[in-house]
Order: sequence, then structure tokens, then C-alpha cells
Amino acid sequence: MKKIIVAIDGFSGCGKSTMAKELAREAGYVYVDTGAMYRAVSLFCIQNGWMSDSEINSEALEAHISSILIEFRTNEKGISETYLNGKNIENEIRTLEVANGASRVSTLGFVRRELVHQQQLMGNKKGIVMDGRDIGTVVFPTAELKIFLTASPETRAQRRFDEMVEKGEEVNYEDVLANVIERDDRDQNRAESPLRKADDAIEIDNSNLTRAEQREILRTLFAEKTLQ
Ligand code: DC
Repeated sequence: MKKIIVAIDGFSGCGKSTMAKELAREAGYVYVDTGAMYRAVSLFCIQNGWMSDSEINSEALEAHISSILIEFRTNEKGISETYLNGKNIENEIRTLEVANGASRVSTLGFVRRELVHQQQLMGNKKGIVMDGRDIGTVVFPTAELKIFLTASPETRAQRRFDEMVEKGEEVNYEDVLANVIERDDRDQNRAESPLRKADDAIEIDNSNLTRAEQREILRTLFAEKTLQ
């Protein structure tokens, strides 16, 4: 069977990573969560005191960008986890603070160039499922299968809210919704590689789809591309 690159892009909280992980597991492909890479850079800035509510010390970040090593390692349960300079940061990068910082560092051209370069190296042997915002447009414009996943802001906020409550975090729904809307706006309107659907991407709105229905759609699309 032909090995391909699968690019999954879309708004935050659409379930891109769930979809991408499932497909990668079934196909025996490598899964790469590029959002985790922007989150790792955000955490790096926070840890170094380079990020305040109003600004990012981008000179310091640019001077150190090449010393940031981001890796994905599979744990004993077979789950991929994010490492920053050898340290497991998988839990730390899932907070709202780090997510907001990631949305901000992702507007910086030098950050995008560095991470896109690393992502392209990860995909050079194909057999990869990568999710993010610019995978089908910038990282792999020639990917064989491109998906653009969408869902309404309210649906996404509710899902994220439920996830956070389950983890025992104290949040309120209105804050999560406001955050989703703010990040959508930043993702779509930044000057550098804004989120947009690639012309040849297939759009799937999963607001009213079950996980099983979505899985079936993706399986069919994947089979069409790999059996050609
Ligand atoms: O998917 P996520 O919520 O983990 O992404 C975190 C932030 O990183 C989000 O605000 C958008 C940004 N991002 C990006 O600009 N490009 C990508 N390929 C992936 C994420």
C-alpha cells in the first residue's frame, strides 16, 4: 500500500488530534501534534520570564530558538508525549495560560519558520498524520490527503469545558467560549500563515457527527488515497 502524508487542519477544539491519532494508530503511521510544538515554545517563554500579558521578549526568544529541542516520545501505554529539551511537558502544555501563549508565539515569523522546518523533516519519509493550522497550506502543500475540520465555536467550547472539568480544573463555560473565539480570530487573522482551508482540502463539519461517523468518513477517504 502506498504511504502518504495526511494533513489535518482546522480551528482549535474541533477534535483534530483525536481524529489524527486514531487514523495514525489504525494505519501504523507516525502522529505529529504541531500545536504541541507551539505550546512548547510558549512554555519555554513562560519559564524564562519572557512572556507578560502585554508582550513577548521576542529578541530573547529569537536568540534561543535554535536551542529549543522538541520531541515526541511514546510512553508505555503507546501514547505520544511532548518533550522539551529532554523533559516531559505533556501535562504542563495543556493549560489555558500555555494555550494563550502558543496562540501569541505562533504569530512570530521566526518561530513559524523554525517549527515548519522541523515538521518538514519529520514528514520526509511519509507515513505521517500531522495536525495543525497550516499543514495543508504551508508545511505539506503536496500532501495526498488534506482535511479541514470545523465545528461551531459553541460546540468546541462545550467540548473543551467538559474536558477541563473532567481533569478537575476550575473553569466557567463563558470564559472558555470567549477564549475559543479570541483564538479563532488570532489564528485566522495573523499575517504569518493564517488558518485557511487549502483549495484541495476536504471540509468536514463535525458539529453534528458522532465519533464513529467521523471515523468512517476518514477511513473511506484514506483508503481511496492509499489504494490508488
Ligand atoms: O492545536 P492547539 O490548540 O494545540 O494549538 C496551539 C496554538 O498553536 C493555536 O493557537 C494555534 C497555533 N498553531 C499554529 O499556529 N500552527 C499550527 N500548525 C499548530 C498550532
